[in-house]
Amino acid sequence: VKITAKVPAHLRKLYEAAHQARLRSYSPYSGKKVGAAIETSSGTIYFGCNVENATYGATCCAERTAIQTAVAHEGRFVLRRVLVLTDHPSPWLPCGICRQVLTEFAPKRGKVPVYALNLKGVCLETSLQELLPTPFDRTQL
Ligand code: THU
Repeated sequence: VKITAKVPAHLRKLYEAAHQARLRSYSPYSGKKVGAAIETSSGTIYFGCNVENATYGATCCAERTAIQTAVAHEGRFVLRRVLVLTDHPSPWLPCGICRQVLTEFAPKRGKVPVYALNLKGVCLETSLQELLPTPFDRTQL
């Protein structure tokens, strides 16, 4: 994991998208606002926020909301980059379920960077391959 202290210029658009989405986070239970933005191979950016639920377990993370939005717009797509934004001192990387769901759209997961940022600009960079080296995939079905 690579760490930098300010939002790199090449992440500006993804950051802005995640930032806008984060403001709309529906998180009355945890109070944790999360925004995510993904870029597809078409060059389009889709975003999402966490959407919580009174049953807790029905909560959807920001990353999965962004993936669902991308599918609604593009159908099958290839994932190029992922950015997650919180206001935590140490930025949040995607949870296990989201790693699996992101990987579904990443035929080359080693080539998909994942950036975790906070509002101060602290930025962690890793890859889907590092986050989920052994996903469950279609070849096992
Ligand atoms: N959450 C995300 O949206 N993304 C993550 O990567 C981790 C957790 C949300 C789920 C829940 O609404 C809140 O953050 C606390 O877990």
